[in-house]
Amino acid sequence: MSPASRVLVVGRGGREHALMWRLARDEDVSEVLAAPGNDGIGRRFRRLMISEDDAASLAEACRAERIDLVVIGPEAPLVAGLADRLRDAGVLVYGPGAQEAQLESSKWFAKEIMAEAKVPSARAEPFEEPLRASRALDGFGPPWVIKADGLAAGKGVRVTRDRREAEAFIRACLVEGRFAAGGRRILLEEFLAGEELSAMAVCDGRQFTLLPTARDYKRAFDGDQGPNTGGMGAHAPAEMGGADLEAEVGRRVIAPMLEAMARRGMPFRGTLYAGLMMGERGLQVIEFNCRFGDPETQVVLPLLKGSLASLLTSAARGALRPGEIRRAPGSAVAVAVVDEGYPDAVRGEGSVEGLEALMEERDLEVFHAAAAWDAGRWRVSGGRVAYVMARAATRAAARERVYAALARLGGTGWRCRHDIAVAPAETMGGADGR
Ligand code: AMP
Ligand code: GLY
Repeated sequence: MSPASRVLVVGRGGREHALMWRLARDEDVSEVLAAPGNDGIGRRFRRLMISEDDAASLAEACRAERIDLVVIGPEAPLVAGLADRLRDAGVLVYGPGAQEAQLESSKWFAKEIMAEAKVPSARAEPFEEPLRASRALDGFGPPWVIKADGLAAGKGVRVTRDRREAEAFIRACLVEGRFAAGGRRILLEEFLAGEELSAMAVCDGRQFTLLPTARDYKRAFDGDQGPNTGGMGAHAPAEMGGADLEAEVGRRVIAPMLEAMARRGMPFRGTLYAGLMMGERGLQVIEFNCRFGDPETQVVLPLLKGSLASLLTSAARGALRPGEIRRAPGSAVAVAVVDEGYPDAVRGEGSVEGLEALMEERDLEVFHAAAAWDAGRWRVSGGRVAYVMARAATRAAARERVYAALARLGGTGWRCRHDIAVAPAETMGGADGR
C-alpha cells in the first residue's frame, strides 16, 4: 500500500472505535476517518456524518476524501450490499458483498455451505410453519435450541429446557413476526454442550490468516446468568487448545468454508468469524459472522504487531500478505459498561462519571459505543455505552487493571459484569438458560 494511506471505518460502536485506534497506530496510515462514528470516536478522529446505509453518499465521500481503504464494521450494511456498491464505485473495500454475507444473514444458508464443506456443526432443520416446528421439538430436545434464520441483533437464539418457552419462541418468530423478515424461517438445532470460543480469520477469497482466539461473555449477569446480550466483555487469547486448536480451526473450518464459497462463485473477502463450541464431540461450529466480532475486536487487535491496514488492504485486493501482522505477547481484557436495563429494558438515562479521567490513562483504552457527550458528561444513550480495555503480561493482570479502573467510575444508570476473564470458561450457553 502507499506510504500514507487514508482509511475510512464505517460504523458507530466499540468495535469500530477499536479498529480506528489500531489502524491509527500503523505507520503507513496518515488518517483514519469514521462514518458516522460516535462522540468518543470524534474526540480523536474526524467524523463524516453519513449513515451506514447511505451507499451513494459514502461513495462520494470516498472520492472527495481520497480514501484508500474502507473497512465496514457492522453486519447490517454488509448484508444490505454496501461493499458491493462501494466496489462498483471503484473503492477498495474490506468486507464481503451481500451474497457472501449470507453466511451471517441466513443461518440456513450457512448450514448448507457447512454441509457441503463437511464442517462440523450441530444437526439442524428449517421450518416456516409453526405447527410443524412445534411437533418437531420432540426430535431435538430438551434442551431446545431455536434460532431465527435471519438477522435479529443478537436476540434471535433461544436455548431452553422449558417446552412452553420453546413453543412461545417459535410462535413469536413465525406467527407474531418478532424479528420481521429475519424470523420468517426458524431452525431447530441439536444442543451442544461445551466451552465457547471465537475465531476470526482475515480472508482474501481464497487464503486466510487467523487472528488470536477470544472468549466473549454473552450473558447479561455474573456467573453467565440472564439473557444473551451483544457482549458484556471479552478476553484474548482464549487460552484454550492453543496452537493445535488454531491449526484445526484453519484446516477443518475456515479453509473448507472458503473453498465451498469460492466454488459457488462467492469468494469471501473480509473477516470470517466462527463461533465455536468445544465439547465431547470436539470442535463444532455454532455460527458464522461475516465481520469482526464485537467485543472480540476490542481484545484481539491490541495483541497484533505490524500493519493492520496493510493486512486488510492486501485481503481487500485478493492477495493476502499474512506476514504484515505478528502477535504480541500477553493478554487483553475488555469489560462493557452498559445501560442498567440492558438488554431487555434499556432506559438511556444517567451518566458515567470519571470516564473522562480513564481516557487519559496511558495503559488503558476506552472504546466508546453509545456514550453521548452532553454538557460536559458522558451520558448513557443506548445499550452498550463503552468498553474499558487493558493489555498486560497475564490475563489476571489485565483483568485487575480494568476492574481497578472501573471501580473509580461513578454516576447512575449503568452497570458492568464483575467476572469477565475471571475463570477459564467452563460451560456456557447453559442448558437451562434463556
Ligand atoms: P448465536 O447467535 O448463534 O451465537 O447463538 C447465541 C448463543 O446461543 C451462543 O453463543 C450459544 O451460547 C448458544 N447456542 C447457539 N447454538 C447452540 C447450540 N446448538 N447448542 C448450545 N448452545 C447454543
Ligand atoms: N461477539 C459476538 C458477535 O460479534 O456477534
